[in-house]
Amino acid sequence: MRTAIYPGSFDPVTLGHWDLIQRADKLVDRLIVAVLHNPAKTGAFSVAERMEFLRELTKDSPNVEITTFHGLLVDYARQMDAHFIVRGVRAFSDFEYEFQMALMNRKLSADLETVFLMPKEEYSVVSSRMVREVGGMGGDLSGLVPEPLVERIAARLRDPGQSA
Ligand code: PNS
Repeated sequence: MRTAIYPGSFDPVTLGHWDLIQRADKLVDRLIVAVLHNPAKTGAFSVAERMEFLRELTKDSPNVEITTFHGLLVDYARQMDAHFIVRGVRAFSDFEYEFQMALMNRKLSADLETVFLMPKEEYSVVSSRMVREVGGMGGDLSGLVPEPLVERIAARLRDPGQSA
C-alpha cells in the first residue's frame, strides 16, 4: 500500500490545495492530508474548521484521510507509515522554502522522500494568505477557494467572530 502525506496549514484550503489533493490521490493508495496544529500560532480558522472544510471537499475520495499533527512532520509520517511527503510548488518563488524544508526533512529521516507536484497554472498566485486578505476586505473568493466553500469562508473572513 503506497501512502503519502500532504502536510500544510490549509488556513484555509484553496483551489490550489484542492487541485494538488486530487493529483496526489491518483498517485497513491492512501493520501493523508495533515493539518499542522501549531500552538504558537493562531490562524484565521481553527484547526477543526480547516479539517471540516477538507473533509467536506474529500467526502467522495475514499482514499483520502484528513488528520492533524503537531511536532515534527517526519515523526508523524513515520507514525502513519507514510512513504513520501507531497508538497506543491506553484512558482519559482516557492522553491527555496520548499527545497530547504525537503532537505531538512531528509536530514531528519533519510528514507522519507519529498515529491513536488505543480497545481494548475491558473492557481499559481492563489495562496491562503491572499484568500485571507481578499476575503477579509470583502472581495470575491470564487476562483480562489473551492466553490462549495466560497460563501462560508467569505462570511467567516468578513466577520471573524462567527464560526464557519
Ligand atoms: O502550508 P504550509 O504552512 O507551507 O506548511 C508548512 C508545514 C506544515 C509543511 C511545515 O511547517 C511543517 O512540516 N511543520 C512541522 C514542523 C517540522 O517538521 N519542521 C521541520 C521541517 S522544516
